Amino acid sequence: MKQSRKILIVEDEHGTRELLKTQLEGEYSVRSVSNGEEALSYLKDSPCDTVLLDLNLPGISGLEVLDRLAAETESMPTVIVVSADTNINTAVQALQRGAYDYLVKPFSIDELRTTLTHATQHRYVVGTATRQRSRSGTSQKFAGMIGNSASIRRLKQDIEKIANTRGTVLLTGESGTGKELAARAIHELSNRAKGPYIRINCAAIPESLLEAELFGHEKGAFTNAIARREGMFELAHGGTILLDEITEIDPSMQAKLLRVLQEREIMRLGGKKTISVDVRIIATTNLDLKAEVREGRFKEDLYYRLNVIPLHIAPLRERAEDIPELVEHFVRRAARENDRPVPEISPEAMQRLCAHPWPGNIRELENSLERSVILAEGGAIDADDLRLDVDEGVSTGGADMNDASLTIRDMEKELILRRLNLTGGNRTRAAEMLGISVRTLRNKINQYRHEGITIPS
Ligand SMILES: Nc1ncnc2c1ncn2[C@@H]1O[C@H](COP(=O)(O)OP(=O)(O)OP(=O)(O)O)[C@@H](O)[C@H]1O
Ligand SMILES: [Mg+2]
Repeated sequence: MKQSRKILIVEDEHGTRELLKTQLEGEYSVRSVSNGEEALSYLKDSPCDTVLLDLNLPGISGLEVLDRLAAETESMPTVIVVSADTNINTAVQALQRGAYDYLVKPFSIDELRTTLTHATQHRYVVGTATRQRSRSGTSQKFAGMIGNSASIRRLKQDIEKIANTRGTVLLTGESGTGKELAARAIHELSNRAKGPYIRINCAAIPESLLEAELFGHEKGAFTNAIARREGMFELAHGGTILLDEITEIDPSMQAKLLRVLQEREIMRLGGKKTISVDVRIIATTNLDLKAEVREGRFKEDLYYRLNVIPLHIAPLRERAEDIPELVEHFVRRAARENDRPVPEISPEAMQRLCAHPWPGNIRELENSLERSVILAEGGAIDADDLRLDVDEGVSTGGADMNDASLTIRDMEKELILRRLNLTGGNRTRAAEMLGISVRTLRNKINQYRHEGITIPS
């Protein structure tokens, strides 16, 4: 039930505005306005992740909008400036005023998509710290990690023990078990807590952009490199960098990363000098990395460099005693965020929640409870309201989730097929619901196709 990213289009030309809107709708939640004043007043009440800003506007100019956004809004959205102006000075001015990127008209929709993916990723990286903090409260130890089961207690002890070292951490666990949360907890408990915490979602950044994103680039290193930009490793200096879904990077990047891990220095794209960085590296994966090495998909020497401190998070079904406390927490939060009274949960409902296998782990529990709170409309939540079997109605002709002989892989496949069914084959939405990247989803779909399975579309 996560909202899609919000984009505001600021464009005076009616045709262009409508065209952009139609192209981006579905993937993003899109709003549009036709001038700068409207944009500023809209953004005051409705923060957006990304703004697509035309420079040449009636009334106040795009550059002025940038200035006022920086001065008047609490958190500056990621702004992509679009303009027919090819003058490099204009681009520089826009970037100096805080724009994230500059697109010269006319541009192809693919070009725009790539820039947006990059920009939303950037937004997520910069936004994570504050967003997570406001959700979990500032002073919570372990970043608000809930759970008192033996495995979570052990995890917390390990995190405390290793937080103040610089040793590279490899966090493993199924999707939605809380790897990202654990990474944040490590950072917050470390003596780097006041330093930056930067998360790179390796699966979300297009391969072609990853190197520049990680290592930065000099001016003129490639077309569009109109200014020097520092990479994430440099920005994370003195802090922690999270390489999320590390298996998603290709072999050549694996080799480059290995060098950073060995030398603790980087070189910007197009640069000549090495820059040393003091960074704690945390990597995550929901795959069996050793198996990836065996299959030749992941470099063995990189694996050993990453696996200095291995931490594993158990799936939720193996720590069902944590469920009641998690339920309490998520129900309260969903009620607060959706402006509903906190509903009672019937004992039968709680029983069902504790017995459910939760293949999507805590993320699935969280989403499921948010849905229940909304559907309960302020009343109590009963076992039937949970709709834990709601998807079973949409038969995929596949596995019965209660079948005791099912493997995790069977369950995963079944869940993926159900989500694709539910979303009418929309991969972006299905991936979002599943809490995995579109790329991972695509890979799984390809595997299933090889097995001769028909994919809902
Ligand atoms: N122990 C916990 N207590 C409270 N919330 C948790 C806990 N573990 C996870 N969560 C919440 O569950 C959601 C999923 O967690 P997170 O993103 O850390 O999982 P992940 O292991 O990184 O998943 P993926 O492999 O899909 O990226 C997040 O909203 C997170 O805040
Ligand atoms: Mg994660």
